[in-house]
Amino acid sequence: MSGKSLTQSEAPLLEVKNLETAFRIDGEYYNAVDNVSFSVKPGRIVGIVGESGCGKSVMSLSIMKLLPKENGKIVGGEIKFAGINLENMTDKEINKIRGKDMAMIFQEPMTALNPVFSIGYQIEEVLHNHMKISKKEARTKAIALLKSVGISRPEKIVDEYPHQLSGGDASACYDRDCDCLPAQTINC
Ligand SMILES: Nc1ncnc2c1ncn2[C@@H]1O[C@H](COP(=O)(O)OP(=O)(O)OP(=O)(O)O)[C@@H](O)[C@H]1O
Ligand SMILES: [Mg+2]
Repeated sequence: MSGKSLTQSEAPLLEVKNLETAFRIDGEYYNAVDNVSFSVKPGRIVGIVGESGCGKSVMSLSIMKLLPKENGKIVGGEIKFAGINLENMTDKEINKIRGKDMAMIFQEPMTALNPVFSIGYQIEEVLHNHMKISKKEARTKAIALLKSVGISRPEKIVDEYPHQLSGGDASACYDRDCDCLPAQTINC
């Protein structure tokens, strides 16, 4: 057989090259992520393993451009998503991608879900903003998404608030919130 397989020849969706992220402490910058490189092709799952505190979450926040503005910054390397360098993107430009093309699932679903908005609202907001569908269509899709992850009584859960859910249900709802559209999801 000649030629590359489809997977081998596909361009990466995410490319991280020599990434360095630092935090400013007492006026000095210290690296929390030091020279990390990897790439993810479409349809592939990549796991990043390392001891607690080694920089997995900070690396993910760097990719999502969610580092704390007051003391965190990328000090080296580059991040490309779908061939586009994320470094020079404005907040407005990245907001169009975040939640639509890439999303981050944070470690604690109970604290990541907004306690003052219903589950349905939090899923529908993403769908409505990025897919330009009506609120009614977004609601129907939100219910279908909840059902697809095995949530029982999804029609009721959409109107409930995070504190009313079990830990497992909250986690599944949160995953749907982050995961309903993106090409790239970072579980952190
Ligand atoms: N806002 C911040 N300011 C200063 N240092 C920070 C900040 N956030 C994270 N750090 C530091 O960056 C380093 C990497 O932390 P990070 O949360 O990425 O670890 P992790 O690999 O995700 O750990 P875990 O497996 O426990 O989730 C740690 O030393 C942490 O204290
Ligand atoms: Mg972490």
